[in-house]
Amino acid sequence: MKLKKVLAIAMASMMVFGLTACGGNDAAPATTEAPAEEAPAEEEAPAEEEAPAEEEAEVEAEAEDAAAEDADAAAEAAGAGGNIGVCIYKFDDAFMTTYRNALQEILEGKGYTVTFMDGKNDQAEQNNQINNFIAQGVDALIINPVMTSAADQIIATVKDAGVPTVLINREPTAEQMSAYDKLVYVGCDARQSGTMQGELILDTENKGDINGDGKVSYIMIQGDPENVDAQYRTEFSVKALTDAGIEVEELDLQRGDWDRNKGQEIAQNDLAKFGDQIEVIFCNNDDMAIGALQAIQAAGRTVNEDIYLVGVDALDAALNEVASGNMTGTVLNDAQGQAEGAVAAMEELLGGKTYASGEQSIYVDYVKVTPDNVADFQ
Ligand code: GAL
Repeated sequence: MKLKKVLAIAMASMMVFGLTACGGNDAAPATTEAPAEEAPAEEEAPAEEEAPAEEEAEVEAEAEDAAAEDADAAAEAAGAGGNIGVCIYKFDDAFMTTYRNALQEILEGKGYTVTFMDGKNDQAEQNNQINNFIAQGVDALIINPVMTSAADQIIATVKDAGVPTVLINREPTAEQMSAYDKLVYVGCDARQSGTMQGELILDTENKGDINGDGKVSYIMIQGDPENVDAQYRTEFSVKALTDAGIEVEELDLQRGDWDRNKGQEIAQNDLAKFGDQIEVIFCNNDDMAIGALQAIQAAGRTVNEDIYLVGVDALDAALNEVASGNMTGTVLNDAQGQAEGAVAAMEELLGGKTYASGEQSIYVDYVKVTPDNVADFQ
């Protein structure tokens, strides 16, 4: 909904700009044609009256020139040719790789010069990269912070430099963002993805209670727990079950840092330890779910028969597993939509827009993916 709002605003600004430009173009032929049309009138009119008409035409022409200059300046600020610095928390992250590719295609397609930096999961390294971008005089920054807890420092730095900035993927608090009005966050509300994961389990024939003992026993493979996406997905996936009156039992909760190998290791150990007790494996993202699937298959278990498995992101590999029944479902984390939203917000900032406190988060919706609709995403 919010993305639509952003796109609508962007389109509205484009329309305003388009109308300004059209007005100029329409006015030009009208002025050229005017003398011919007015010729008979001029013949009748006294000489003195011609002067004001000419002055009027001159004033009109000057106004048109000024409008054209304004339009050029706006186009230059918001359009092709700007230098954009993009900081990604680490390149070696499956979802952020998809997101990065989408950003690159959109920005380069619009004629921007873009430099991507790999924060290597190190906030100090990313701080240096931000400072370097500022020293190089970039026109705007797009930042995927390494640590949400570093938001204050990042915001203070970009504010000091006066660089318009879009934060992505790791959402700071509204209060933190309110420190700088040329700053906006574009991302998703992770609570929604957690709730959808819970709903995927509620939608199964036994609502996740495979062994019929009256409770759903699960393990939770968490992303980086410092990250609000990990916190909310962990909380809201289970909350969807308990809100529906289902009793739950948490057999294990471990951090897998969004990483496939860690997802595989945690699932392997838990399957060895808890065996058939495990009815559901919740993974905060797909990469860890793909790892968990390897462990599930190695343990001779079968997804959707004797265990359920859900992730988030809708990575291509996960979509294939959902389609072939090896994952119960996933949730689309819309990299393309978020990249488009981030660029639209950046262009608004470049065009001079400032954001009021409390209106600095722009959300893109998540979408549940099941075998029924997976083909729409492949
Ligand atoms: C999440 C995504 C994860 C990981 C994380 C990085 O939104 O689901 O796969 O990329 O962002 O912050």
